[in-house]
Amino acid sequence: MGLLLLVPLLLLPGISGLPFYNGFYYSNGRSPGNGHGEGLFNGVKLVVETPEETLFTYQGANVTLPCRYHYEPALVSPRPVRIKWWKLSENGVPEQDVLVAIGVRVRSFGDFRGRVHLRQDKKCDVSLEIRDLRLEDYGRYRCEVIDGLEDESGLVELELRGVVFPYQSPEGRYRLNFHEAHRVCAEQDAVVASFEQLFRAWEEGLDWCNAGWLQDASVQYPITLPRHHCGGLDLAPGVRSYGLRHRRLHRYDVFCFAAALKGQVYYLEHPEKLPLTAAREACREDGAQIAKVGQLFAAWKFRGLDRCDAGWLADGSVRYPVAHPRPNCGPPEPGVRSLGFPDPQNLYGVYCYRKH
Ligand SMILES: *[C@@H]1O[C@H](CO)[C@@H](O)[C@H](O)[C@H]1NC(C)=O
Repeated sequence: MGLLLLVPLLLLPGISGLPFYNGFYYSNGRSPGNGHGEGLFNGVKLVVETPEETLFTYQGANVTLPCRYHYEPALVSPRPVRIKWWKLSENGVPEQDVLVAIGVRVRSFGDFRGRVHLRQDKKCDVSLEIRDLRLEDYGRYRCEVIDGLEDESGLVELELRGVVFPYQSPEGRYRLNFHEAHRVCAEQDAVVASFEQLFRAWEEGLDWCNAGWLQDASVQYPITLPRHHCGGLDLAPGVRSYGLRHRRLHRYDVFCFAAALKGQVYYLEHPEKLPLTAAREACREDGAQIAKVGQLFAAWKFRGLDRCDAGWLADGSVRYPVAHPRPNCGPPEPGVRSLGFPDPQNLYGVYCYRKH
């Protein structure tokens, strides 16, 4: 068959060594700057503080987006304020209202309803808690404090720990329009990657010579080692863009983004190799499900899953994850190796996913 797609992603060292607090981490340094707003009335300043550092979290976590305000000089008696949190428009997703609070009355909106609340336990702390974080929750949030006279705000940036991977249709290269790209990523337990996510993956070593859709309907590809068959040697390394493409008419591959998982992906120990249908069944008999591509990438990147045996996945592809490259186990870089989409009657092992 000769179709061996390689994904030479480098593992990020030290990810597991980061301190986690309450589902996110950030360092404590708070200096005045772009995260801060301040306004002036009658010689009294309203100051809103949010962390400058991006918060990193994972899918399914509960997170707190910190936001506090105070007056300078301090007021003798507290003034009533209104609080508004909203999510900024990004990647073609319009601005979204998240939560509004007037005194004890709080209202949340849309997908955030029932999942967000204000942590009003301390005075002037109007941090937002989001429960059961979803893939599409990453982005920039604004915390606005509205005092009758003044209106100040701060920004909080939330990013999910995740892994970007290129995805190609079973029919071959460049078969997906933008809408189909969304569907195939969702089927792999992932979403279409944003430019920022692809750029970060490129910084970590992603090199891929096929162009793929991103969230904003642009089509790009990340190159670490310029080469002849891949735009030539004259172009510098980087993320190369074809610009915005027609969402229905143009067809490419796609870059998907899968977040770090709570569950477990494993290679099923089974006495014999199996065709695809029997492989699905074998995972079910083991109290699990056949793993999706996004789940295998997340397990490889965040759990260091390493196995030199090719196994079936839910989409009918056959892959295996290598965290520690070695002889007879693919190329010298870590990566998830792919054998493409073989005949479903062929015999392989299988990767299963168990939720907890
Ligand atoms: C998030 O909070 C809810 C309600 O307080 C709790 O039931 C759930 O276990 C928490 N999830 C995590 C991942 O901590």
